[in-house]
Amino acid sequence: MIPDSFKQDLLNRVDIVDVVSRYVQLKKGGANYQGLCPFHTEKSPSFTVSPAKQFYHCFGCGAHGNAIGFVMAYGSMGYVDAIKDLAASAGMTVPEIQRSPQENQRRERETDLYAVMEKAMEFFRTHLKDSPKAIGYLKSRGLTGEVAARFRIGYAPDDWQGLKTVFPDYDDKSLAETGLVIDNEAGRRYDRFRDRVMFPIFSQRGSVIGFGGRVMGEGEPKYLNSPETALFEKGRELYGLMQARDAIRTAGRVLVVEGYMDVVALAQYGVGYAVATLGTATTPTHITKLLRLADEIVFCFDGDSAGRKAAWRALEVSLPLAVDHKPMRFLFLPAEDDPDSYVRKHGQEAFERLAREAQTLSGFLMGELRGQADLGTAEGRSKFLTEAKPHLEKITAAGLKLQLVKEVASLAQVSQDEAERLMGLRATGERSYARAAPSRAPAPLITSQEQKLLRCVLAKPSLATGLDPDLLDERLGETAALKAIAGWVEEDPASGEAIIVERAQGSEHEAVVFRAQAAMLDHGPGEESAEPEFRQILLSLSIKRKNEEIETLKREAASRPGLGAELLRRTNELAVLKSQRM
Ligand code: UTP
Ligand code: MN
Repeated sequence: MIPDSFKQDLLNRVDIVDVVSRYVQLKKGGANYQGLCPFHTEKSPSFTVSPAKQFYHCFGCGAHGNAIGFVMAYGSMGYVDAIKDLAASAGMTVPEIQRSPQENQRRERETDLYAVMEKAMEFFRTHLKDSPKAIGYLKSRGLTGEVAARFRIGYAPDDWQGLKTVFPDYDDKSLAETGLVIDNEAGRRYDRFRDRVMFPIFSQRGSVIGFGGRVMGEGEPKYLNSPETALFEKGRELYGLMQARDAIRTAGRVLVVEGYMDVVALAQYGVGYAVATLGTATTPTHITKLLRLADEIVFCFDGDSAGRKAAWRALEVSLPLAVDHKPMRFLFLPAEDDPDSYVRKHGQEAFERLAREAQTLSGFLMGELRGQADLGTAEGRSKFLTEAKPHLEKITAAGLKLQLVKEVASLAQVSQDEAERLMGLRATGERSYARAAPSRAPAPLITSQEQKLLRCVLAKPSLATGLDPDLLDERLGETAALKAIAGWVEEDPASGEAIIVERAQGSEHEAVVFRAQAAMLDHGPGEESAEPEFRQILLSLSIKRKNEEIETLKREAASRPGLGAELLRRTNELAVLKSQRM
């Protein structure tokens, strides 16, 4: 549970215009900003961001939310992750309260494990300084001391229990839990990494979570890696991400390579925005992480057949995650090179030219599909359509999908319409990206009094406590939302609009609250006008209610005499209410 006060601080601290502009090009128009909606495909901008109200709204698809909602929808992230992400970008740390004792224990344990890893890294770094052999090896691979320090490269000495010098309690279970030692069957414990050059792997937050150790010269395995532990999950992590972060932001591009040395050598040669998968195939988590940081992903593979296979796997993982405004490219190096050797031979400029000119995802996909079918025959063209189908189905980016469908159709010599029907793509076209857009309630034609009240309450939430629920129409979603808001304000009287909308997000009241907020873009009460407007609406609702009561009494009076006094009282009350009208 993240406390509301923190969310409020966070929403005060971040500016939604900054957050959205990281991913969407915005133009100022009047009080608001406009751009092309990232949640559906459009040619003219209907996506609006309000700096005053700190929310976004798309008049095209109904997507709506605050900064947290945007990060969730755009990054396909959970609520807590989105808050953490935003907090990190604002330099804030998320306090976490109400954790279970088990959870607390697990966290304490993790903190200990991080400390163990950090200590091990320092141990390896110290030993690098004392090892002419390891220093000589790094030099022979062309690394400067500066780059070695940037990547905190170290050396694990040729010693079965080297770590004992820094961990006197060598039997402690944390050493096994971090994978730094191995317990053999005979119950003897020894260091996993011996006589290897050590590459620490950092989490995005900058903690050491694993190591890769390279043998110097011949020997198997060439790289020995930390096992998966509580801290380290290979499919989620990328080597070099911590060091590359700033360069990725500046370049707007991230390069995904295969090896530790590729990342380090590229950095040494001025290409600082490279990261490596850790001996695993590219996963959706990797791609999602990178899409959050960069505008363009370039996957770089060796030119050999293993490289092409790995590239194809990366392509298959990328298809569902591709977004129209963030191109992905595939770079194939000459067969004899990897990024390390290439940049060494040809330099930064030549390498970056290759990256810029790398094949697009669509180019790579179409190239491979074309290569598998003979487009000169009817059978070949129909096979081509069959093979293309499963790939096109996976694409959720509407623009990219349309382009590819057109291209496939033209190559197969059928119309776009026929291609879509043959591949059964019609039905899924719109659904796929609807996920990003929150549910949209149809806009009603007349604005109810309850809706107007809701707008006032959003402008000044403290008003909610002055509501008389009896005056409101039970059947309206606005009524339910107003009651909920009154409860939230009672819990925390300091709640502002941001926190109210935040609480509504994801609740049953989301749609009505979002709609009310969106309506306030053009004509909503400001904080000062909210209160008098609120009072007037309540007053007219009271009058309406009183009139109804009088009507009922009059009808009943016909059959039940003696209601005259009651009727008179109500009529007087009505007169008092009417006199308060402005
Ligand atoms: P490569 O065999 O292509 O090595 O493995 P490399 O990156 O070019 O390394 P150098 O230049 O010879 O030093 C690519 C990546 O695959 C993983 C490592 O992450 C390595 O960087 N790998 C490879 C292992 O984990 N273990 C191995 O034994 C070999
Ligand atoms: Mn290499």
